[in-house]
Amino acid sequence: MEAVVVSAPGKIILAGEHAVVYGYPAIVAAIDRHLTVKVIRKPSKQKFSGLVKFALDQLGQTNKVDLDIQSDLPVGSGLGSSAALATAMVWALLPQAKLEEKNRLVKIIEDHQHGKSSGVDQTIVREGGCLRFQKGTFQAANLPLKQAILIDSGRPKESTKDMVTAVAGKKLIFPIIGRLATDWSEKLIKENERLLEELGVVGEPAKKIIRQVEASGGMAKICGAGGVKAGSGMVLAVHPDQDRLQQLISRNQWPYLRVKLGGGGVRYETD
Ligand code: MEV
Repeated sequence: MEAVVVSAPGKIILAGEHAVVYGYPAIVAAIDRHLTVKVIRKPSKQKFSGLVKFALDQLGQTNKVDLDIQSDLPVGSGLGSSAALATAMVWALLPQAKLEEKNRLVKIIEDHQHGKSSGVDQTIVREGGCLRFQKGTFQAANLPLKQAILIDSGRPKESTKDMVTAVAGKKLIFPIIGRLATDWSEKLIKENERLLEELGVVGEPAKKIIRQVEASGGMAKICGAGGVKAGSGMVLAVHPDQDRLQQLISRNQWPYLRVKLGGGGVRYETD
């Protein structure tokens, strides 16, 4: 029986997270870590939970396919694993559907995960590259960073939906965050992080890492929805002196990933 295999990348938000939900711009880049879904169409007794179950039910595919999901994207770390999962599943399960229909279905799954999703994650996962996204429309953006170091501040206790709900009343900060994304450069990372802290989406472990990166001459920010009860997911760290950053990471034994930015979006693979 023929398998359909689809891979979808993760993402980091360089600027504009949370504010993008309220119509302000965000700058987002695909990363070279992927989630892959393999589908074999046949009656199946496989049992799933969480977002995979929701997606299968939503797409009318429960018990109709065998599913194999592999991923090198950490879950719940702000790297777009839910958008990669939703996109790869829709593309693999409904390969004949029109693009508009695929997008609509991914949005339903993302909304289930985010509460109210801006669409930025599903757009970058689909398109790849680096984009400026606002209110459902997007253009290719300059990619000043080709590589990035992501330091793991720990998995958030909260879901993206919890964090989006928690900041819903703090509307005064969104336009200020949005302004940073309008003419983004690496230099704005520090200010962006301060605004995210003011918004209340950065927990103590992440702040501790970020202050140390800053004290050593670099800058860092969270790059997804964040979290305050425990970790805040991955922290994007940039530094004029890469050796110094590397030493700081080694000394503190922080888990980290080195990623390339701007790779391709979702694609069908040959099995
Ligand atoms: C999550 O990666 C980004 C948020 O802005 C939510 C969204 O845009 O849907 C927090």
